[in-house]
Amino acid sequence: MSIWQDRHVTVVVSGGIASYKAIYLIRQLMKQGATVRVAMTPHAAEFVTPLTFQTLTQQPVVCDEFTLQDPQHVVHVELADWTDSLIVVPATANIIAKMAVGLADDAATTTILATTAPKYVVPAMNSHMYANPATQRNLAQLTADGMHVLTPATGMLAEGYAGQGRLPEPDVIYDWLTQQHLLQATDLPLHGKRVLVTAGGTREMLDPVRYISNRSSGKMGYAVARVARELGAKVTLISTPTALTKPAGVTYTEVTSAADLAKAVKADFEETDLLVMAAAVSDFKPTHAVDQKIKKQPGQTGLTLELAETEDILKTLAPLKTHQFVVGFAAETQHLIENAEKKLAAKKLDMLVANDVSKPGVGFNGDTNQVTLLTPNSTPMTTNLLSKTEIAQTILKAAIERGV
Ligand SMILES: Cc1cc2nc3c(=O)[nH]c(=O)nc-3n(C[C@H](O)[C@H](O)[C@H](O)COP(=O)(O)O)c2cc1C
Repeated sequence: MSIWQDRHVTVVVSGGIASYKAIYLIRQLMKQGATVRVAMTPHAAEFVTPLTFQTLTQQPVVCDEFTLQDPQHVVHVELADWTDSLIVVPATANIIAKMAVGLADDAATTTILATTAPKYVVPAMNSHMYANPATQRNLAQLTADGMHVLTPATGMLAEGYAGQGRLPEPDVIYDWLTQQHLLQATDLPLHGKRVLVTAGGTREMLDPVRYISNRSSGKMGYAVARVARELGAKVTLISTPTALTKPAGVTYTEVTSAADLAKAVKADFEETDLLVMAAAVSDFKPTHAVDQKIKKQPGQTGLTLELAETEDILKTLAPLKTHQFVVGFAAETQHLIENAEKKLAAKKLDMLVANDVSKPGVGFNGDTNQVTLLTPNSTPMTTNLLSKTEIAQTILKAAIERGV
């Protein structure tokens, strides 16, 4: 399901202090299903051995162009033709200069010149080398030639002083590459679709410092938003405050209460093709929220809270549905299927994702979940205990199969 699945990726490693970080990016791409092959400059081999990359990728590493090992192929041309995407990471000032003029004096630069695949360049160098007009001119030339260049990070350099030129963290590089690919891909199942996802537990304020909430971490909704983006959708994530990293390439709106969440969802609903309501929305809110902190009075032994119903967002949206595919969630601790079937019908949902949050490893907070998918007029389908990413993939696949 990942955009990297079965993709042939060539990682060109040039010789800088950050050469070892290419290892982490390669691992991430492989985890997402890519087949990765490495081409190295001779200087890169001074920093990390070809054996490390060969063992990691389980593929031969191209380092020496004039090898006698394979009489069938010219090594760099074979690799260039095999490549779907080429990433230069880290890209030294030297290799950037060579690429800008089309030099091909080793296996790595010859492969770069010989491939027609899209090229991604991740520079990393000393801040003065980066700021040098020659480097800036060369980078501008790469962009003009249609290559994608990531701006280096600012921070402490290997030289012991701060400046711009650091290799961004492998996670940042991975997200950037994925977004670049998604911008170009038109063959993804959710391409052109607008997906709205809600996540987290709403907070109903009792006074300026206290609130009623629930144990939802937001992880399920964030996973749905991330996977929907990877499947090509334009995604908006409406979330309560969480400790989670915001998914790359997703429009993010933060809300606090059930009323805020309802307002944000209603504002976007008409433009939405798929709504996934993964947020745990409070059913009740304090009848009277007060402006000042509630003080304990002398001798006071208890406090009675009066609660009023919050807006039932899915019920409000049901009559407004035109083309939207609406997925609701139900967290239950008993009579799971029975309660879920009632909710599916009452709220005119296209799919309900039900989970029994009393089971270990299921529902709130954890990294795994086991759910039952209910759709109108079909038998409920229960998944195994899976990661929340796999659950998100299952939900979106089922929605796509039903016509989103
Ligand atoms: C310890 C050390 C660290 C280096 N780090 C970098 C670097 O981060 N970025 C860079 O552009 N050059 C760096 N260089 C200089 C390159 O290794 C040098 O320009 C080399 O010719 C690059 O060759 P290549 O681009 O063919 O790999 C470093 C050199 C040494 C000795």
